[in-house]
Amino acid sequence: MVNLFAPDPVDPDDPRIATALEVLAPYAAELGLPRPTAPATFAADFEEQVDVVATEGVPVFSVTFGVPPAATTERLHASGAVVGATATTVAEARTLAAAGVDFVCAQGSEAGGHRGSFGTGAADDLIGLVALVPQVCDAVDVPVVAAGGIADGRGIAAALVLGACAAQLGTAFLLSPEAGTSPPYRDAVRAAAPEATTVTRAFSGRRARGVDNRFARELAGRDDLPPYPVLNALTSPLRRAAAEQGRAEFLSLWAGQAVGLARELPAGELVTRLADEARAALDAG
Ligand SMILES: Cc1cc2nc3c(=O)[nH]c(=O)nc-3n(C[C@H](O)[C@H](O)[C@H](O)COP(=O)(O)O)c2cc1C
Repeated sequence: MVNLFAPDPVDPDDPRIATALEVLAPYAAELGLPRPTAPATFAADFEEQVDVVATEGVPVFSVTFGVPPAATTERLHASGAVVGATATTVAEARTLAAAGVDFVCAQGSEAGGHRGSFGTGAADDLIGLVALVPQVCDAVDVPVVAAGGIADGRGIAAALVLGACAAQLGTAFLLSPEAGTSPPYRDAVRAAAPEATTVTRAFSGRRARGVDNRFARELAGRDDLPPYPVLNALTSPLRRAAAEQGRAEFLSLWAGQAVGLARELPAGELVTRLADEARAALDAG
């Protein structure tokens, strides 16, 4: 399976870029980096990535942050792929189903990482999984995958009972050795309480849930910074240096509200345990 971010428009002349470079300069200095500058490009080319997905015959493809362009869905269907996309509201799920996706991922507000929202983007559209999944299941005719706050077999069983055909877990795998989670990020995940996560635009310009830290707090409420993917590209050198230097206060510590359920297990072993737990929970019910 390959997952891509739907393309967002970029305006290289956006005056907010200069503001962001000013705002980020003291953080760069604190990390011993040169004064930040704008890169030549802000994001990988979506069509070039889709070319690879189609040519390689990837069997399952999904996008987040938007509706897959019709030409992309057509092309990937022709290559034999199943195409899905993320919704955070019932309206987004309806839009995706009408656009011809084969499945919808219903992402509850508990979820770690970026919100897949592409609708109004209003700050109050944080719908929890238990409310979102059955309403999405009722609204669309395609299979629904539940995501957000699921980190053990009890959660998977609950998602299936709510009408989902599958569960998608992110935070649960952050402490697996395969996850590539940097040492300061791992420490933050181990220490985090469920109420320690926050939804912030500070790192990427898009709302994402992670363990609260100094960078998120200091940039909270700033609406003069550029949107995704521009801010994401501008903060990237800072985040890379922070990981190398063990400075969790400048890292995007993406994690969801089930952070306390993450287990230090190899991914394969975790999947086996999750399946066993889910079966046991369903049998007990
Ligand atoms: C570290 C991290 C990275 C993520 N990256 C992506 C991504 O690239 N694309 C995507 O669609 N979702 C991404 N997500 C969100 C997951 O797909 C999923 O919605 C979420 O992890 C489910 O909630 P949970 O974290 O509570 O399990 C990411 C989540 C985390 C925690």
